[in-house]
Parts: sequence; C-alpha cells; structure tokens
Amino acid sequence: MTPTTDAIDYAKLPKHIAIIMDGNGRWAKERNKDRVYGHHEGVLSVREIVNVSAQIGIQYLTLYAFSTENWNRPKEEVAALMELLVNTIRKEVSDLNKNNVRLCVIGDLESLPLKCQVEMQEAIDLTATNTGLTLILALSYSAKWELVEAIKNIATAVKNNQLSVTEINEELISAHLSTASFPDPELMIRTSGEHRISNFLLYQLAYAELYFTSTHWPDFRKEQYIQAICDYQNRERRFGKTSEQIQTNLTNVDESN
Ligand code: FPP
Repeated sequence: MTPTTDAIDYAKLPKHIAIIMDGNGRWAKERNKDRVYGHHEGVLSVREIVNVSAQIGIQYLTLYAFSTENWNRPKEEVAALMELLVNTIRKEVSDLNKNNVRLCVIGDLESLPLKCQVEMQEAIDLTATNTGLTLILALSYSAKWELVEAIKNIATAVKNNQLSVTEINEELISAHLSTASFPDPELMIRTSGEHRISNFLLYQLAYAELYFTSTHWPDFRKEQYIQAICDYQNRERRFGKTSEQIQTNLTNVDESN
C-alpha cells in the first residue's frame, strides 16, 4: 500500500534529512535518452521533495547536488549541470519564498563558475529571512575537502595562540564544518541502489540512520519519500546504548508527562 502523509508520526519527525540523489543517468539510459535528460527530470523530484519537506515540517533538508568528484565527468555534462542549477535556482526563488524556504549552500563555492556563484548568492540573500524549511545544497562539496579545511583552520588558530590543543573536542570540530549552524542529519537517503556514502557529510552522519532504495532519483517522489520517513520512524536509535536502556528512558519520559 502506498503511504500518505497520514502514516507519518509527527512526534518522531527527523529534524534534518540528507539525500544523495543518485541514478539520473541510469534512469535516462533506460529510456534511451542522454544523461542530461535524466538531470532535468531529477529537478522535478527536487521540487516535489522540497515541497513535501516544507509541508510536513522537516526543518533541514540537505541535497547532494554536485560532488567534488563530479568535476571529473565529461565537460559537456558538467556544463549542462551548472546551467541547470543556475536556471533552476533562478526559476524557483519565488516558490521558495512562497513556501517560506531558506536556501543555503555548502561546498567549495569558489570553484563554481562565476555565474553560478552570483546566482546562488542572490537566491541565498533573497530567501535569508524565511523561517520554514532550510534547504541546503551541497555544491562542489566533499566531506574530505570539508575536513581538511576545518583542520587547517583549527591548526591556524592553535598556531596563533587563539586556541589551545586541550580545547579541541567534538563540538569544536563540528563548529568548524560548513554545516556548523545546522543539526546533524538523523536520516540519510540514497537512491538508485548504491550502498555508499560517497564522501558526503562523513562527520555529521556518524549516528544517522541510512536508507537505501533502488528507485532512481527521477522516480523518487512524495510516496517514496514518505516510505523512507516511515521506515526511519520504525527504527530504534540506540546511540551505543542497549535496547533496554532506551525502552526504560522512553517509559520514564512518558510517566513524567
Ligand atoms: C546523480 O545521478 C545526480 C547528480 C550528480 C546531479 C544531481 C542534480 C540534480 C538532481 C539536478 C539539479 C539539482 C538541483 C538542486 C537544482 P548520476 O548522474 O550519478 O546517475 P547515474 O549514477 O545513474 O549515472
């Protein structure tokens, strides 16, 4: 049976969902189309997933739109993807505002074509005061790049006597990542059947629930998204504790309410 939003337990909604949108190329190939056609269809899924997220009250949604490794793709595909990003963002800004969505970007933005940087910055500025869903696009992003940058910044602060080595802890590292102002994702979804994290939010996904589906990204729509959220809600998150400890805590919370 296809789940609807009624199947969602709103008391157990993840605050932050991260998605590796995979399979645009294979989806297109299965239809004898070129890869770029798959990316264009992928944009329709992006729109639907953003809208559903805003509607059901997800606070943060991170989409892996272009990885550092994606620069190694054929240059025509890279150019088409950049063009698609610029055009999509330009077209979507008014809908983002209508849906109270704030746009943020993480990644090595300086490596993007200038046109793309300018367009992104404009959209970020135009949506900056929205208070609903925060949509985070990972662009020219890789977790290893992000960790190297964070370590360089921490090392510089130590060298300049602004920080002592004993002050380095998990929180300080989090505060030096590009996601410093967002909570860690509780749920990471990857479409298209690959069971990898592919250099995505390695530090932040330490305790995330991972959900893999064979559905290609252009076919990943509202129903598939709700299915992933319901699957997450049926899991027990133990954070290294035992199942008994978790159950006891839940009972105590229930009794104190
Ligand atoms: C992975 O499919 C998808 C990408 C590398 C790009 C994702 C981009 C979009 C969905 C469109 C633009 C996005 C936004 C946010 C406006 P793939 O090409 O790796 O597919 P394959 O594994 O089947 O080859």
